[in-house]
Amino acid sequence: MIILGIDTSCDDTCIAILKSEIRNPKSETKGINFEILSNIISSQVKLHAKYGGVYPSLAKREHQKNLSIVFKKALRKIQGKQIDLIGVTVGPGLEPCLWQGVNFAKKLAEDLELQMIPVNHIEAHILANFIGEEIKNEKLKIKNFFPAVSLVVSGGHTQLILMRGIRQYKLIGETRDDAAGECFDKVARILGLGYPGGPIVAAEAAKLKTKNYKLKTKLPRPMIYQKNYDFSFSGLKTAVLYLVKQLTINNKQLTIRQKREICHEVQQAIIDVLIHKTLRAAKDFKVKSIILGGGVVANNELRKQFQSTINNQQLTMNFLVPPKIFCTDNAAMVAATAYFHQKEATKNWQKIKVNANLKI
Ligand code: KG4
Ligand code: ZN
Repeated sequence: MIILGIDTSCDDTCIAILKSEIRNPKSETKGINFEILSNIISSQVKLHAKYGGVYPSLAKREHQKNLSIVFKKALRKIQGKQIDLIGVTVGPGLEPCLWQGVNFAKKLAEDLELQMIPVNHIEAHILANFIGEEIKNEKLKIKNFFPAVSLVVSGGHTQLILMRGIRQYKLIGETRDDAAGECFDKVARILGLGYPGGPIVAAEAAKLKTKNYKLKTKLPRPMIYQKNYDFSFSGLKTAVLYLVKQLTINNKQLTIRQKREICHEVQQAIIDVLIHKTLRAAKDFKVKSIILGGGVVANNELRKQFQSTINNQQLTMNFLVPPKIFCTDNAAMVAATAYFHQKEATKNWQKIKVNANLKI
């Protein structure tokens, strides 16, 4: 089966085409292998950088301009093969942007007489784990991963989700204010480092040669020891704001070293909270797997420290992390999600609507 995935939930115009092969036809969740025929991400990052964040009306206009160009490019890679199914992100995300992708998908469904699957962007971030190499291993049957706890950390979301299987989700915790990615982005803006903040803060933190801070300022780890699975990151951003105010009193400029120390400490505070809360949920629910997803999971230190904490605590759970290219927004994850929902495919695509606040 050849599946077209479309995602315009934020500022990237994403189109991918996946070919699914079922190794063992007796079970739909056994040995699935997705071959990526095309995976295009047309980034608008340069355009939004001057605003320090995504400007929705500008993003919508760019999606409108880019969609057919990106689609044609993707088609070139499949050399005349027929598409069987369309998966499109319907939420959560920026409403005007989501509509661009959905309307484009509807037009294609009409022209090519195809069925459509509405895809939840959060679920797609989780299922990004099932695109890659790991699943090619016949021993790793998907059903053996569950129950699992999934941490989705992106620019808009920080959620802990208990999974009994694919398509069986229960939200057990989420951020009460800013998402972790948003905190990275806001801190980068406070420090004048640019957008998107996550990769820049991570790069600055990595340049810190000696880890003994001169600043002697330990930033908070919000809600880390609270006995729930919720998060809060706005206080961390405010703590950075106060610290910077203090350091720049009397028109003083932050030194490069000071900026790097702040980046290092912010990153570590976010990592500490994410790991602590996810592992607590994993132990409480006695899960077989910990599954990560979302843009922040592209963070090297987070990936490394998660794995080493699991090793140090001698936890025997599976630890699933998508390749970095499938952590940040992409449409391969959308096509893979459509595959898992194929039984819900509808020719009644006219009824598909966007829901900017769609829940898992
Ligand atoms: O999943 P994503 O691409 O889009 C949303 O669904 O929001 O996530 C984007 C977020 C941004 O806040 C960005 O700063 C963050 O992911 N991010 C990172 C890294 N790469 C992207 N955060 C920390 N470290 C990174 N390497
Ligand atoms: Zn995303």
